[in-house]
Amino acid sequence: MTAHHKMDEADTRNRLDDMVQGLVGSPMDRPDGPLKVSGQATYAHEWDVPDMLFGVLARATISKGRVTDVASSPLIGKDGVRAVITDDRLLRRPAQGGADEAPPQGSKQVDYFGQPIALVVADTFEQARHAANILKISYETMANAAFDPEADDTPTDKPEDDQLDQGDLAKAMADAPFTVDQVYRTPGHNSAAMEPHCAIASWKGDKLTLHGSYQMLNFNINELADALHIVPENIRMLSPFVGGGFGSKLGISPEAVAAALAAREIGQPVCVALSRPQVFETTMRRSETRQHVRLACGEDGVLTGLGHECLVSNLPEEEFYEPVTQATHFIYGGKNRKLGIEVARINRTCGGSVRAPGEAVGMQVLENAMDELAEAAGIDPVELRRRNVPDRHPEQDIPYSSRRFIEALDEGAKLFEWDKRNKKPGSLREGDWLVGHGMAGAARVNILSEAKARVTLLADGSAVVETDMTDIGTGTYAILTQIAGDMLGLPANKVQTKLGDTDFPAGPGSGGSWGASSAGSVVFLACEEIRKKLADKLGSDEAELTLENGAAGTGDALRSYPDILDGQEISAIGHIEPGQTLEEMQQATYGSYFAEVAVNAVTGETRVRRMLGVFGAGRILNEKTATSQCYGGMIWGIGSALTEELVFDDRDGHIVNHDLAEYHIPVNLDVPQIQVVLLEERDEWASPIQAKGIGELGICGAAAAVTNAIYNATAIRVRDYPATLDKLLADLPSH
Ligand code: MOS
Repeated sequence: MTAHHKMDEADTRNRLDDMVQGLVGSPMDRPDGPLKVSGQATYAHEWDVPDMLFGVLARATISKGRVTDVASSPLIGKDGVRAVITDDRLLRRPAQGGADEAPPQGSKQVDYFGQPIALVVADTFEQARHAANILKISYETMANAAFDPEADDTPTDKPEDDQLDQGDLAKAMADAPFTVDQVYRTPGHNSAAMEPHCAIASWKGDKLTLHGSYQMLNFNINELADALHIVPENIRMLSPFVGGGFGSKLGISPEAVAAALAAREIGQPVCVALSRPQVFETTMRRSETRQHVRLACGEDGVLTGLGHECLVSNLPEEEFYEPVTQATHFIYGGKNRKLGIEVARINRTCGGSVRAPGEAVGMQVLENAMDELAEAAGIDPVELRRRNVPDRHPEQDIPYSSRRFIEALDEGAKLFEWDKRNKKPGSLREGDWLVGHGMAGAARVNILSEAKARVTLLADGSAVVETDMTDIGTGTYAILTQIAGDMLGLPANKVQTKLGDTDFPAGPGSGGSWGASSAGSVVFLACEEIRKKLADKLGSDEAELTLENGAAGTGDALRSYPDILDGQEISAIGHIEPGQTLEEMQQATYGSYFAEVAVNAVTGETRVRRMLGVFGAGRILNEKTATSQCYGGMIWGIGSALTEELVFDDRDGHIVNHDLAEYHIPVNLDVPQIQVVLLEERDEWASPIQAKGIGELGICGAAAAVTNAIYNATAIRVRDYPATLDKLLADLPSH
């Protein structure tokens, strides 16, 4: 039995408020936590599959051209080498999240340095790695590769759907008493999930089982089926535990296709694990951006014009581009607007979704520009933002669903004691340290995704939740357990949540921050159906029913589930589809960041001393896991502000810093104790559980609070991220 629901109107029932069991919203520990800390959670590389061979990818050492020969025969049969797979389908690029089709790819064509060319399979990993290193690949090199997105002769195109020209921005700029007209740059990023990508493929007849580490299993089996030219029904994919994704596992990547092809050809299971440099070079990168921001406001600080024109990059023919202006469209008003994206076609690793594609870098820069405008207009930065929160969407003229942006600004200012901040840039000094304060706004679009889950109330009175939804460290196991527990009146230890297996109903996957609200909604819907069945059995009305600690009934007469069920079980599938509420209301999450930094006047080193984030994201399903998501986002924000940067070789586009020693993400010593405050909110248009996405909100603008604080400390504006010490040194007072 399926409970289907299309989100065409607001759900104002707020059923999860005041549930007897009291699980939803509470900071419940993750049920999967003990397995993880005791090493018992099985990650992709840890499956024990009998007779498994090992494959290592051999990859291009040119940036553009054609493969003319792969010298396999000298290797095969020696030193454990079983096969060298050179199937054209290996050349498939990492797929983009949500896309079911293989991206275009010419046969044997090389488009970037590090692109997979062949898979060497051997009895052991070491044998395969050695053979992959000595495998001779011959090329016909093309000289016209492009590596610099900003070079005059680099080809570019403008995606039609992402150009907006409203009113007359040039005139607004000319007429305004205060303006900002600046160009900012952000560097490329790697997702840098802790668990490197891995796939273990085994075939039984025409049925493929793939143990891997992916975010969106329902989409991923379609991608894999498409790449292998088989039907998705013949694929079972398992990812019960995923050691972080951050976008890099939204789509399948080369190891999945390679393992599947090799296992089929050889007739034995094959494991393909990527090394850290391979993760950097063959999965995907966040595009670097060049962002031209123009802001115009009157004496009152109210925006009259807003321009945000961006250059990003990707491989030729790739559809995805970093949607830099995604939040710029709706966060602030201003009648005259020019927003656009241009895509440079370059020969670097495929561009894709990395940690809040769009807002992470777009809000970061817009919030720097707002800081500059606040200073130009002589208005407090918090107040400037408050004055520019529009009543209706400034382009589409639709209302907003829940939006606690102003409350987040006010609450943040109060908690941070913003009124006591340093007010004159470069004037607060403690010994060698220049101290400064900065803030920024946060916004991220909210999405509901189609999803299904099955919930079964077993005859013994316990419940099982099943969906192919994943938990990528986000807390899915916890929140689905909490929702089912509350809806069915069961303590958490009576609910078993099973995830990450495509034999279960198709979940929404973990991406774009939609996982918790979408998967949570279908568990909710399935449970509503089960409650109705229980009410039928009891001959009462579902609305009158009390469900508590494994018993149900009306008044004081509760009967235990085993008694009510009498050996039967009740199972239901919840199914949700997005509907009109997503079209008719601008749905997003909002917040604010406040940071205190100290910049060493002698060395230029920046230390973040305090950081606060205040967020409104609809109903919070688990206070602890939601807070942790925000900690993570803000820590990435510190990295984006200060250290994180992909460096490409100008000569061939290869990634120079392709490991975690040289690609600097923040570590414990870089991060102060961060404070996160979650605002009470219900979004009735977002989902039947009034929750919105929170996963990526914490990064969307976070870096700007840090760089705005650096300006406040030093009076130096760094508009070229990250704000490393070399960009500060020359202008610091002691030099
Ligand atoms: Mo995300 S970058 O949609 O995993």
